[in-house]
Amino acid sequence: MLRGGRTTPQPGSLFPLEPEGGSQGVCPCSHVLPVGVRIPKKLVAWTGALAIVLQLTDPHLLEDPLATLRGVPTRRTLVEVLALARARLPRIDRVVLTGDLAHDERPASYLALRQALAPLASRARVLPGNHDDRAALHRVFPADAHGHDPDDPRRCFVDELESWRLVGLDSQIPGKDAGRLGPRQLAWLRAILARAPRPTALFVHHPPVPTGHSVLDTMGLLDADALAAELTRAPWVRLVAHGHIHRATEHRLGVVPVLGTPSTAFQFPARPELGPFEPLPPGCRVLHLDADGWHTEILRLPGLRYPPVPRAS
Ligand SMILES: [Fe+2]
Ligand SMILES: [Fe+2]
Repeated sequence: MLRGGRTTPQPGSLFPLEPEGGSQGVCPCSHVLPVGVRIPKKLVAWTGALAIVLQLTDPHLLEDPLATLRGVPTRRTLVEVLALARARLPRIDRVVLTGDLAHDERPASYLALRQALAPLASRARVLPGNHDDRAALHRVFPADAHGHDPDDPRRCFVDELESWRLVGLDSQIPGKDAGRLGPRQLAWLRAILARAPRPTALFVHHPPVPTGHSVLDTMGLLDADALAAELTRAPWVRLVAHGHIHRATEHRLGVVPVLGTPSTAFQFPARPELGPFEPLPPGCRVLHLDADGWHTEILRLPGLRYPPVPRAS
């Protein structure tokens, strides 16, 4: 389990991360449950976090409700992951969806997403991935399209949750697999982060770090260095959570933890030579946000009920 520490920025330095087993913002379950282990409901209910954020990513929904993608019924696995999270968590204050929402980019797929989220839809914050259509997404989720610039079609959001600030970034380059934030969005981010310092979590589809997968690393966040420069100006940014790689990972951008999250549909392996898919169940990430720290865990379905099928060569 990864956990971060206090939020108080030190002038001229980056915030200190609390080491594993630290004494602040400690969840009772954090000493016994590593990342990837299913969490008994009673222990999760015991965390007492100020706020709980559920990150869902890469559902790759399809217009046809019965259709499968690589043999995976993606609508069904999304519903099952949501049911798991709702059963295990005492409450869900926000749901952040970090892209690749509709594999076919069809309006009906976004409508299906909204229906699956009910009754949490009003707490959902939605970002596009490379497999998304901004216009179709916007028509179904208009309320959380907190555009940073009326002349820029990118979707992003800034949200306040207890003592925390949640910021969503739109990394889509239409028609491309790789992502980019762009100078205008980075300027917007700088202005947001320059407001009164408060613990901040960033969400984005593309990973801003190499993750070790030689193919996926060619389609990451192309201007990650520029994002890293913004983070050095705002040491109260506590974490970056992303999608795209369909895998639970932990890296760092500078000193800021960067968290990859399992897909609600199918998983990719750590390296391409391991095959097209990792035989792990669909899952999601939970962020427990405390006044002076945070911790995170992965929830997964109990078994791989729908093993993904490699594409015929
Ligand atoms: Fe994806
Ligand atoms: Fe993606």
